[in-house]
Amino acid sequence: MKNKPTPELGRAVMRSLIQERSPLGPLKVMAAHIGRFFQIPLPGFRPYVVFGPEAARKVLVTEKHKLLWRNHDPVTDLLRRGVLVTDGEEHEQLRGLMEPSLHPAVLHGYAKMIVAQTDRVTAAWGNGQIVDLLIEARKIALLIILEALFSVDAWDDLPRIWKPILKAIEYVSPGAWILWRRIPRPGYAKYLKALDDYLYGIIQERRKRKEGKQDLLQHLIDAGLSDDVIRDQMLTMLIAGHDTSTALLAWVFVLLGQHPAVHAQLVSEIDTLDKSPLLDQVIKEALRLYPPIHIGNRIAAEELDFGGGNCIPAGERMFYSIYLTQRDPAIWEAADEFRPERFTRGRKTPPMSYIPFGGGPRACIGAAFGQAEARLVLSRLLQGFTFEPLDMDKIHAHMGATLEPRPAVRMKATRRTLP
Ligand code: HEM
Repeated sequence: MKNKPTPELGRAVMRSLIQERSPLGPLKVMAAHIGRFFQIPLPGFRPYVVFGPEAARKVLVTEKHKLLWRNHDPVTDLLRRGVLVTDGEEHEQLRGLMEPSLHPAVLHGYAKMIVAQTDRVTAAWGNGQIVDLLIEARKIALLIILEALFSVDAWDDLPRIWKPILKAIEYVSPGAWILWRRIPRPGYAKYLKALDDYLYGIIQERRKRKEGKQDLLQHLIDAGLSDDVIRDQMLTMLIAGHDTSTALLAWVFVLLGQHPAVHAQLVSEIDTLDKSPLLDQVIKEALRLYPPIHIGNRIAAEELDFGGGNCIPAGERMFYSIYLTQRDPAIWEAADEFRPERFTRGRKTPPMSYIPFGGGPRACIGAAFGQAEARLVLSRLLQGFTFEPLDMDKIHAHMGATLEPRPAVRMKATRRTLP
């Protein structure tokens, strides 16, 4: 590597960590000082970080075969043989089984249910109540994913599965385990077991029924997979398919809260147009500024050459940074600013510079679902309620399993009476 860390860089990294209250600050500082290829210099944790369109193309498309998704980390411990953490033929088979339930052509079939589940959650809000949209979005996203893929109406189950799900997310989030791998983490066992019991229960229930629904769960059963492998796919879809949507919905509210003029224009478009172009642009810009999955985590199976003497040796961990790619000032004008008009129809962004769903053959399997869901849920919420933002200045990006607005997205929600 050409550029080595210096004491000055060390100080800038510490300052940014304090200012931004998240490792995103240091990542931005390292990117600005060193460039599109650097190594995180922590004791016992020295992954390589790459970003930018060329690196993304190499990692996601042209040299994808030199990388492994399966890892020795809590994500693989939890998801075991889930489609997200398998490689090669096993991955292709699993992905092939999952794709039909999430194909853009079938999404209209979920629309009514998505609106109904959104209404279910908002029906419990008192008029003028202050709600935390990070929590409310998670309820909505959980109800939707469980019903869409496993035909489970989870409303009554929410109190029981809420804590286990949050614990599973915490289990896979960056934490002290990164530096001290061998620390036992017994506090999670009981919650992860509760989540497993819930999922195995759903599988058992379905196996007993003669006539199954034609959903993802049924495809997996009909394909002859064992209960364990079905559980791995269900847990993968449950976590990957709701935690991301939760973060996206919550960030949209944060950005609307911080930009009242866009908020007002969006509400007026949603009230008057069948399909609001601004809504699409706001969703896209939220995904650019705060990509819920902000890095892709890989192990190099072979050496990877990024040019200019920058190589990742075989066996090393590497991250491609979606966050840094989408905030690269060399590509994006006013990269840190919220400007939904960047995504006005007809305007182009350079290939592989906008990658909130990854790219190549392992791009997000739920990309179309996630975006359709966000459009429907946001339209419904903004049609039904006026949202007055509170404490927006206290929000920072928290690096958990996804990039989340913390500590909360507080808004006063008042029911609208439409003409
Ligand atoms: C806003 C919503 C979402 C975002 C931003 C998002 C983002 C991503 C990204 C960036 C990747 C690739 C990660 C990598 O390269 O390492 C990915 C993969 C994946 N996503 Fe999503 N996702 C979203 C919604 C969903 C939904 C709704 C589902 C399921 C219903 C889902 C299931 C998956 C799965 C299974 C993979 C792994 C695919 C594979 O390796 O073949 N995601 N997602």
